[in-house]
Amino acid sequence: MKVAVVGRGNVGGGLADLWERAGHEMTRIGREGGDVSDAEAVVVAVPGGAIAEALDKVQGIEGKTVIDATNLLGVDPPAGFSSNAEFVKSKTNGPTAKSFNINFAALYDRLDEAGSRPSNLWSGDEEARQVVEQLNRDAGYEPVYAGSLENAAAQENFLKLVFGINQGGMGPFLYRIAPPDQL
Ligand SMILES: NC(=O)c1ccc[n+]([C@@H]2O[C@H](COP(=O)([O-])OP(=O)(O)OC[C@H]3O[C@@H](n4cnc5c(N)ncnc54)[C@H](OP(=O)(O)O)[C@@H]3O)[C@@H](O)[C@H]2O)c1
Repeated sequence: MKVAVVGRGNVGGGLADLWERAGHEMTRIGREGGDVSDAEAVVVAVPGGAIAEALDKVQGIEGKTVIDATNLLGVDPPAGFSSNAEFVKSKTNGPTAKSFNINFAALYDRLDEAGSRPSNLWSGDEEARQVVEQLNRDAGYEPVYAGSLENAAAQENFLKLVFGINQGGMGPFLYRIAPPDQL
């Protein structure tokens, strides 16, 4: 599949590496923006508060299947939207999903060490299911459907529970000290 990542840092770059190994053709776009006309799927992995600015610099995204991986660390979604994922859909009018926002990028290289395939939530449009589930499996996750795009806000807020669990003792040590935005 031709996949574009908007944001090529820990998440966008890390997932792109995993998908490249699985045979996908990747385009990596940073803050300068770029063209995703060729892509069959677009993954957005920029700082949550930069989503509007980031999408403004991307051409050819209208109607595309988009997976939003952003989190809202200390920021709100754009005015009038309850989640970043719903904001994305308002800009693209294509199949949209929320996924990859509640797994730590620091563990991407260790997914195959797990005793069983780690789960990864996704919520969103039925029309995005095939792409989202394939990209989850090709990264090394077992996709778990968590409902329609209306549930994206709950999935974005779920991060607070993940940090709570992490600070309680599970997951990479780094994030037990403080959430990444406070490090
Ligand atoms: N780190 C994790 O474990 C993790 C897990 C799940 C979800 N998330 C979420 O995923 C998103 C990305 O996190 P990350 O850790 O990958 O961040 P990161 O390593 O800092 O990478 C951020 C990427 O976004 C781009 N960017 C920064 N500001 C931008 C702007 N104003 N407009 C357009 N692009 C911009 C950067 O561009 P340049 O390449 O040009 O610098 C970079 O490619 C965040 O929303 C985060 O909360 C993170």
